[in-house]
Amino acid sequence: MSNPVLDAIFERRSIRQYTAEPVSDEQLAVILKAAQESPSARNGQPWHFSVVTNQELIKEINDAACAELGKQGGFYANVTDIFYQAPVVIFISAESGNNNWVTLDCGIASQSIALAAHSIGLGTVILGLPGMAFASGRAAEFAKKLGFPEGSEFSIAIALGKPAASKEPHPINDGHVSYIK
Ligand SMILES: Cc1cc2nc3c(=O)[nH]c(=O)nc-3n(C[C@H](O)[C@H](O)[C@H](O)COP(=O)(O)O)c2cc1C
Repeated sequence: MSNPVLDAIFERRSIRQYTAEPVSDEQLAVILKAAQESPSARNGQPWHFSVVTNQELIKEINDAACAELGKQGGFYANVTDIFYQAPVVIFISAESGNNNWVTLDCGIASQSIALAAHSIGLGTVILGLPGMAFASGRAAEFAKKLGFPEGSEFSIAIALGKPAASKEPHPINDGHVSYIK
């Protein structure tokens, strides 16, 4: 079975290498429209999308996150580049309040961004690691620089750009589906 939606779902990959080519305003507009077409619990649309092309700011957040990762040690201790030199990073922030579904809503919007980008020839990788920059004691500073609405916190980020590398699909593990008849 094949159609454009299934093709996008089956062909999307996390892209970790980008060309320096800028993403056009028209491309960004359609990707951000797709993000906002996402479903959300009680149609709460709890998200805010900060579309960042300022490479200085991206580097500042990168360095703060990497320093924090270094302090914590472990698997990511020696990471120096969490944004993979992407020309655009979209930060999703949200006010969680009492709504337990906010994280899920932002996750769905992330996948809408990833699929829309893929469908127009762009690559993405969803990024949790930038959260470390906000855990470094500089959450308020970065929230301000990124234009998060008052009371909103970092939820997830997505690197976006023209792919400079391809990637094999991730293997699908057995045993994650049960058919109950
Ligand atoms: C919530 C979430 C957080 C992620 N955080 C990162 C990250 O910080 N850095 C990274 O390189 N990839 C990150 N990824 C990408 C995953 O590693 C990737 O989706 C997974 O390995 C499967 O590969 P695929 O996306 O190419 O199918 C994240 C993915 C999700 C859904």
